[in-house]
Amino acid sequence: MVNQIKRENFSGKLGIIAAAAGSAIGLGNIWKFPYITGVYGGSAFILVYLFCIALIGIPVMLSEFIVGRNAQKNAVGSFKKIAPGTPWFFTGFIGVIAAYVILSFYGIVAGWTLQYVFLAITNQFSGLTPDQIGGNFGAFISKPGLPIFWQVIFMAVTASVVIGGVKKGIERFSKILMPILLVIIIILVFRSVTLKGASKGLEFLLKPDFSKLTVPAILSALGHAFFSLSLGMGTMITYGSYIKKDENLGQTAIQVTIADTLIALLAGFAIFPAVFAFGIEPSAGPGLVFVTLPNVFNQMPFGAFFALLFFVLLAVAALTSSISILECVVAYTDEELGWDRKKSTVVVALTITILGAILSQGNGILSSLKIPFLIGGKFEMMNIFDWFITLSDQMLPVGGLLIALFVGWGMKQQMVKDEVTSNGKFSFRLYPIFNVLVKVVAPAAIALVFLSSIFGWFK
Ligand code: TRP
Repeated sequence: MVNQIKRENFSGKLGIIAAAAGSAIGLGNIWKFPYITGVYGGSAFILVYLFCIALIGIPVMLSEFIVGRNAQKNAVGSFKKIAPGTPWFFTGFIGVIAAYVILSFYGIVAGWTLQYVFLAITNQFSGLTPDQIGGNFGAFISKPGLPIFWQVIFMAVTASVVIGGVKKGIERFSKILMPILLVIIIILVFRSVTLKGASKGLEFLLKPDFSKLTVPAILSALGHAFFSLSLGMGTMITYGSYIKKDENLGQTAIQVTIADTLIALLAGFAIFPAVFAFGIEPSAGPGLVFVTLPNVFNQMPFGAFFALLFFVLLAVAALTSSISILECVVAYTDEELGWDRKKSTVVVALTITILGAILSQGNGILSSLKIPFLIGGKFEMMNIFDWFITLSDQMLPVGGLLIALFVGWGMKQQMVKDEVTSNGKFSFRLYPIFNVLVKVVAPAAIALVFLSSIFGWFK
C-alpha cells in the first residue's frame, strides 16, 4: 500500500501461459511426481491425482486468478482490498509463510540439479553401474557443504531474475525454455519405453491396483495437485494480478493445468520403464530421478549430451518455478511492508537460503535429528528436510480451501462472473459447476482428506 507503483503486466496470451506454466512445471513434475507415484504404488495413485487436478485444481487455480486480477495486488493485499476489515487476508498470510517454507527446500533440490549438470559436463556417469550411481547420489546429498554451494548459486540466480521484474525477467525465460523441455522429455520417453524390460514399468503406470490406495496416498495426491499447479499459497494470485483485463482467465487456467499434467505424465513414462528395466526400487524416494535417468543416458547414443541437456532444462524448469515462489513473497513485502523491490528480494532470498541450508543437513550431519509430525493418527519421526516437505504438503490444501471458500462465499458472485468473462467479453458457461465446486465440493473434499490423514481415520 505504501508505495503505489504502476503494476507491470504480462504482455499477452503467450506470455501469461509461459509464465504460469513456467511456475507450475518444475521439480514437482519431474522430481516429485515420479517419486511419490513410486512410493504410493503407481497407477491407482495417478488416477486419484488426475481426479484432484480436474475437480479441485482447476477451480482453485481459476479462483486465484480471479482474486489476483480483480484486486491487482499481492497475496495478502488482494484479500484486504476485496474484503476490507475482514480476517480473509489471513489466507494470504498462510500463503506467504508456505512460500517461505517451500522455497527453502526447493532451492536445495534445485541445487542438486546443478550438481548433476556439472556431473554431466564432466561425463561422470558413463561406465557406472546402477548401484554406483545410486550410491553417489546418496553420498552427495549427505555432504554438508556441496549441496549448499549449489543452492546458493541457484538462489542467487532466482533473486537476480526477480529483481529484474515480471516482464523482462520472468516471461522471457519461460517462453523459450518450456517448449525445449517438452521435446527433451519426449525423446527420453522414447528411449525409456524401448529399453529391454520396460513393459513392467508401463504396467506399473497403467494397470491400477486399488488395494495399494491408502489414506496417506490420497492426501499425497491432493497435496501434490496443489504443489504441482502452484496453488494454495498465492503464487497464482500474484501472477493473476499481472494478467491483463481482457485475457480469458478460465481458458488460461485450463491450458496451464493441461500443460502441467502432460509434463508430469511424460516424466512418469520417461522414468518408470527405466526403473524396472534397471531393477531400481520404484519406491526409492527423492533420489529416483537422479538415480534412474543417468542409467538411461548410459544406454543412449550421445548419452552424455542428453544428460547435460536434461539436467540443464530441469534446472531451468526449477528456476521458472522458484522465481514464482520468491515473487509471491516479494510482492508482499514490497507492496504491504513498503520495502523496495531490491531490498525485498535480497532480504527474503537470503533468509530463505539460510533456512534451506540448515534443512539440507537433515540429509546428512543432522540426519539423526528427528522431529515428530502428526500424520495418520500418530506422530511419525522425520528428519528436518522431510519434515518441512511434509509441512508444505499440508499447508497448501489449507490455503486452497480458504481461497475456494473466499471465491465461493466471500466474494460477490457478480464480481466473480465479471472477472471471468472480462465484463461480458467471454462466456462462462461452466459457472454453475464452478460455483458448486468452489462453494462445496472442493472445501469438503480438502477438509475431509486433510483431517482424515492427520487423525488417521478410515484405515
Ligand atoms: N509448481 C512448482 C513445481 O511443480 C513449484 C511451485 C511453484 C509451487 N510455485 C508454487 C508450489 C507455489 C506450491 C505453491 O515444481
